[in-house]
Amino acid sequence: MNKIAVIGSNMVDLITYIDRMPEQGETLEAPGFAMGCGGKGANQAVAAAKLGADVLMLSKVGDDMFADNTLANFKRFGIDTRYVERVPGVSSGVAPIFVKCDSHNSILIIKGANAHLKPADIDAAQSDLRDCKLIVLQLEIDLDTVYYAIDFAKRNGIQVLLNPAPAVAGLSHAHLSQLDFFIPNETELALITGLPVDGPQSALIAARQLVEEGIRHVIVTLGANGALYVGEEGEFQVDGLNVAARDTTGAGDAFIGCFAHHWSQDGDIRRAMTLAVAYSAFSVTGLGTQTSYPDAAPFAQFLASL
Ligand code: RIB
Repeated sequence: MNKIAVIGSNMVDLITYIDRMPEQGETLEAPGFAMGCGGKGANQAVAAAKLGADVLMLSKVGDDMFADNTLANFKRFGIDTRYVERVPGVSSGVAPIFVKCDSHNSILIIKGANAHLKPADIDAAQSDLRDCKLIVLQLEIDLDTVYYAIDFAKRNGIQVLLNPAPAVAGLSHAHLSQLDFFIPNETELALITGLPVDGPQSALIAARQLVEEGIRHVIVTLGANGALYVGEEGEFQVDGLNVAARDTTGAGDAFIGCFAHHWSQDGDIRRAMTLAVAYSAFSVTGLGTQTSYPDAAPFAQFLASL
């Protein structure tokens, strides 16, 4: 049994490629635009599915033209959509994204239907969730639903991973301490611990604090510097890869999806992190979010070329 459940968001990404942000009152021409399927939960589910994972998705879509496309997209990658439901009279989640020519991005999210994923939806899926090895969570849905999912996972002996994105202050440490895997980036780690984080050394100190509070495995994604592990298996860093980045949007989600897939196959954390660093590096060389995630075969070629 190595099925993964993702309980989380889906969004329609409205990606504008820009030279710079316009000033207040200024109209500025931008060089390009693309629309795509996104949302942190959906991105992580698709990354895992593209690599061959068996994925169950719990999510909500709206009552609009985006919903059919999102559902079709999940199905295209073989994701189980029995618990992806439409919410009448509500818009789908939407994310206007601005990507600069230096590859960095700014993202707005409008949760829309994602705010309607509730604890009762977890209860409705409980027998299917019990067949999963890992539940993967992010923070683009209601916090109450995230906390309920953590409690559900612990009650049922299912491993649970939280990617605390987008960053939210004041998370319940009683819930965080129950996590098996906690995978923040540096900004999220700083906000959650209240400690300064600006590189591997300070990330190590902040991650140790979370492990002391009870989290079994803390993995900090460090962008081009790779990823850092602190937890039951000790402390180690996986180095980053040097690639020509074009669009970093969704790179963190690529890491989580790839990590979840590989860890659920064999339980080898260091190997799953090494592959996730590479998968995330590959993703920044392409444009868009899910569109930049490779399937298993091109990813294997990329690994062979390193
Ligand atoms: O992590 C990238 C994602 O953040 C985008 O796909 C966007 O939808 C927002 O959720």
